[in-house]
Amino acid sequence: MFENIPQLFSLRKYYNLVKQINLVEPEFKELSTLEIREKFAKFKKQYEKNQNVDEIITPIFALSREMADRSIGLRPFDTQLVGGLILNDGKIAEMGTGEGKTLVAALPAILNSLSKKGVHIITVNQYLAKRDQEWIGQIYKNLGLTVGLIFNEMNKRERKINYSADITYLTNEELGFDYLRDNLTLLSINNVKPRFNYCIVDEVDSILIDEARTPLIISGPSETETYFHNKASLIAKELQEQKHFEVNQKTKNITINEAGYEKIKSQLELEELYDDGNAWIFYILNALKAQYLYIQNNDYIVENGEIIIVDKFTGRIMPGRRWADGLHQAVEVKENVAMQFESETVTSITYRNLFLLYNKLAGMTGTAKTSEKEFRQIYSLPVETVPPNKPSKRIDFNDIIFLDKKTKNNGILLECAHRYECKQPILLVVNTISDSEFLSRELTIAKIPHQVLNAKPENVRKESKIISEAGQLGAITIATNMAGRGTDILLGGNPKFLTRKFLIVFLRKFFKRTLPYQKNSESFLKINVCKNKISRIFLQQFKNINNKITYTEKDIYNILRSSSIEIKKLNTITVPHRFLEITLIVINNFYQNTCSKEKEIIEQLGGLFVIGAERNESKRIDNQIRGRTGRQGSPGSSIFMLSLEDELFQLFGGPKFKKQLENISIDDTGPLKIPFLQKSVKSIQEKVENYYYDGRKQLYQYDVILNNYIKKTFVEKKYIRNVDNIDFWAIRYSQRAITMMTCIYCYILKNVKNNEIRTKILYNFYKEFTIFFDFPFYNLNDVLANEKDILKCSVYLNRLILISYIRKTSSYTPDEKYLLKEQLRRNLLLRFDQIWMKHLKRIELLRDSVGWRAFNRKDPLYEYRIEALDIFVEFTFEYYNIICCDLLDFLR
Ligand SMILES: Nc1ncnc2c1ncn2[C@@H]1O[C@H](COP(=O)(O)OP(=O)(O)OP(=O)(O)O)[C@@H](O)[C@H]1O
Ligand SMILES: [Mg+2]
Repeated sequence: MFENIPQLFSLRKYYNLVKQINLVEPEFKELSTLEIREKFAKFKKQYEKNQNVDEIITPIFALSREMADRSIGLRPFDTQLVGGLILNDGKIAEMGTGEGKTLVAALPAILNSLSKKGVHIITVNQYLAKRDQEWIGQIYKNLGLTVGLIFNEMNKRERKINYSADITYLTNEELGFDYLRDNLTLLSINNVKPRFNYCIVDEVDSILIDEARTPLIISGPSETETYFHNKASLIAKELQEQKHFEVNQKTKNITINEAGYEKIKSQLELEELYDDGNAWIFYILNALKAQYLYIQNNDYIVENGEIIIVDKFTGRIMPGRRWADGLHQAVEVKENVAMQFESETVTSITYRNLFLLYNKLAGMTGTAKTSEKEFRQIYSLPVETVPPNKPSKRIDFNDIIFLDKKTKNNGILLECAHRYECKQPILLVVNTISDSEFLSRELTIAKIPHQVLNAKPENVRKESKIISEAGQLGAITIATNMAGRGTDILLGGNPKFLTRKFLIVFLRKFFKRTLPYQKNSESFLKINVCKNKISRIFLQQFKNINNKITYTEKDIYNILRSSSIEIKKLNTITVPHRFLEITLIVINNFYQNTCSKEKEIIEQLGGLFVIGAERNESKRIDNQIRGRTGRQGSPGSSIFMLSLEDELFQLFGGPKFKKQLENISIDDTGPLKIPFLQKSVKSIQEKVENYYYDGRKQLYQYDVILNNYIKKTFVEKKYIRNVDNIDFWAIRYSQRAITMMTCIYCYILKNVKNNEIRTKILYNFYKEFTIFFDFPFYNLNDVLANEKDILKCSVYLNRLILISYIRKTSSYTPDEKYLLKEQLRRNLLLRFDQIWMKHLKRIELLRDSVGWRAFNRKDPLYEYRIEALDIFVEFTFEYYNIICCDLLDFLR
């Protein structure tokens, strides 16, 4: 009882605010919807004047609560207000699964949208972004705010419009790539400009912790190296595991041993595999990884002749993403699909650096407390836990552990069959696509109806349908982690979705039967015979207004999709919208009734039963799976059914665990009743979590260094893209190149007294200058001969370059000048990317190799810092040089 006291103490500030919100609520309840909107606009104006958020928190939260109640029929609970206030303070709100975080985010989003600087709500996948934008978006719209949604297929223009909305829903991946792409555009007019003002990250642990391990990368084409990949693949096939190399599944790495190197050398007829120009070893390593570590329908799928990565944490595919450094090509060779160009990193960013760009960052999840330290250390984000609105009734059974996969699968199938008999709905979460397909086949053989949700495109298309039906009587849904985080399975089914589905199916049938479908043509709705009870009501409505309605099929489809009737949309169409409104209400009521009756029956059966077929690397992910049931205080239960052949035991169990197993006798037909196994699961997971935490910590340390440089390049490019007098920037860069070069020589000369050597150095300087900066209009020898002072020479040349430019362009018309400037800008940006790409690659290679230096008692991080700086200086030098050469070419 007392354990919650410190937590409640820290929440006291928020509960006091909630009290105030509750006090003003009755007053707002009396207002009409229009009056609420007007009141909201008034507070907006007040904020514009004095920029004081504190004085409007209470009324804005109260107005939002009231509008939520009227728009989507949900009145935020006090606990949800507390969550919203925590998010407004730029913290992480930990609220249990199913506590209604989607709605929580709306409250601070509305408040912060008043600054007009943009609010982003980040979700882990597109399905959730769309669901939340459509659903919660109704509250924003009714308050007079605009709401945007970014999704994969959008073009730049649409993205820009959606980013300029008051509140925008999007995924972390879309945000990251838009940011990176903006930094690669040549014209700022082409930028989509996400505004980094206030951001709420839903499922914050998934995005800022699990996904933080892999940076987002934009790649560009380089030379195709088909020959290397093909040959490497052949050689890899000749090599034998253990004899020539070791496979480490845990670290996803391959180590080639002495015998392996010898074999490769003899195959390639090479003396040495290590010299710098020889990259064979990377190709062979990739080929081995492709063959031994990357498995179809587990790590990737093959779709339309392409390799598409499957994200392990979310179970979703990641179209367009490619593994870096040639690994993707190696998998393409393995699967015998057309190899896409070898790609080199053009630019990249980690999620950490991306989210630290925001002025204010907040997050929410059901599982944050276990990673509190990491959030605080790495993101400076404190975690506050909000108690549940209603105590959870969920029962989490102890794990059942079987000897091998086969007995485990039998156990799972028996459990499904047993529960299916009394029609209790089941969600079965597996770790790979192959597992989902295997269990689906077995259930089909047993004649048990079920649905499958995995990353295969044909299933993804049906995602919202499958989820909306997963809570119905007798439903069995086999899903990968796709149905993990965020998925809301409603017991008894989702009335809104069922209404929509019914109407769409009906209209489709109707159109097919009455009129031959003509694209873009207007069809007349006519009455048709329909047996179903609801469709009779629906048709009756049609009869009432007879068939004078002109309506395209697309119009109806759009209205149904938006599911709630939007008056604005209907005004553009010649139809008495009242009719559709009534029809929808009738059908919706019908489904609401049937669903709630079904819900009651299911609750008596114990609610949704969740089976996890494998433990994940992190307990957080397991808890997310459990959290699909027992939501909002309703009954539900969960269990994990494991086998000793599962990845977790195999990869991370360690020798001690295996030894313990050897000492006990095992009955291999049913569940193993060995007490220490339960404890092992916990300790193995902790071990894995620590292992990954250390890895991430190290990644962050390196990341901070690289990010400094990346940021500098982004700032520089922003200037290049936006400054008016870009020609003088080009001149300035050229002058810097000349000055840098002369400074180096001055530095060398300073320490040399011998005249002969000095002359030699000067000669070199002359040679280098004339080769590098081929001044078309001046003989450098003259300056050097006369002045013998290279510093003066550099001042002179710098002036010369400026004067020559002014002279050359003096006769240009304003149009010509404009064109020239834009050409210069384009060139500056293209050269920038070209050269940065090369140096970025060097820094990445440095990061990969620097670890080895620990063997020589050197601190890898220190070494990395120093050498990365060198590389960055070299980059700037090379960039200035090349710009100078380009300019001199132009002046020629
Ligand atoms: N104030 C409310 N009153 C009644 N029902 C609510 C309220 N807020 C949310 N709900 C319902 O609670 C369910 C869960 O909501 P939601 O999916 O937002 O939870 P969540 O906290 O995001 O869960 P998860 O951690 O799994 O993502 C939904 O069906 C929603 O309709
Ligand atoms: Mg959620």
